[in-house]
Amino acid sequence: MVYRIGLVGCGTVGKGLVALLGEKREYLEKKYGFAFSLNFVTDFIKGTVASADGLDPGEIVRALSEKGSLGDMKGSRDNAPLAELLSETPVDILCDATPTNYETGQPSLGILQTAIASGASAVTCSKGGVGLDLAGLKKLASERGVQIRYESSVLSGTPLLNLVRGPLAGCVIEKVQGIVNGTTNYILTMMEGGADYAESLKEAQRLGYAETDPTGDVEGFDAAVKVCIMAQEFFGCKLSMADIDRRGITALSAGDVEKARSDGKRIKLIAGIERDGESVRGYVKPVAMDLAHPLASVSGPTNAVCLSTDNLGDVTIIGPGAGAKETAQGLLSDMLDIASGR
Ligand code: HSE
Repeated sequence: MVYRIGLVGCGTVGKGLVALLGEKREYLEKKYGFAFSLNFVTDFIKGTVASADGLDPGEIVRALSEKGSLGDMKGSRDNAPLAELLSETPVDILCDATPTNYETGQPSLGILQTAIASGASAVTCSKGGVGLDLAGLKKLASERGVQIRYESSVLSGTPLLNLVRGPLAGCVIEKVQGIVNGTTNYILTMMEGGADYAESLKEAQRLGYAETDPTGDVEGFDAAVKVCIMAQEFFGCKLSMADIDRRGITALSAGDVEKARSDGKRIKLIAGIERDGESVRGYVKPVAMDLAHPLASVSGPTNAVCLSTDNLGDVTIIGPGAGAKETAQGLLSDMLDIASGR
């Protein structure tokens, strides 16, 4: 079977995914028997290009890099509502790489619902939709007989969700403590080396780690929505953004960072989930971590999550938490899982 793929959102990650698909086409087919046809790419700002015969990923990357638009490409068409696009150019897997609105979950929530309703499986790195209503989306997918996957919504392509779903099956997750935002960890690491906050944020934006609106990173919204996803996934518990006790890094000064350092500690923006009797409590806050703690040595855009489990004790997974190729890898592995029926 040739998997027909559609992509919504052509920012840093969307473009990274198209590039990865182009680069790996032969490898994917040879190693996994995964043949694909990229049938449309649509972006609210950059335009839409569609072809039931398949588009050339290399040409799309070139158009985006050189012109920042899909408008001059063969197969270019007016933007249309996704349902219309899907009915004209149906796909088997819809990839959602749109920016996140933490309050409404849109546009991701609507994109995933529309894709699933059309009979397509959906993969997303966008956190809004799955953070807000993972159970609803899973129910919709199961009613329609398709799949929804979201590995790169937390820790980009570093396989935290699959770790818990797969190798850790049978373990009860008692507690989660992690660094789940690459931008803030990068800024904190740079500040510790003496760099200025604003300059470090600008660099994180340039390197493609930050959200379209970086307030989401520095005020802790991005980490909070990831707490919502992990709470649903690991604890079966729906927390809303308002339930998360959230504090970002904007109130931290260079003095705070230096004080932690002279106390033999390191400030990290920690996202946590703990059981509290029958309920579950989620938080995001800067914590001065003892240097002996595994999270203290996680630097730059790297993320890590320590899972306290009943059967295995503590398990820590460390890896990239942001970036174009890193996030695209999560989308790709989700697609391969769907194709192999995992
Ligand atoms: N802005 C996010 C981060 C991207 O810095 O972690 C990955 O979700």
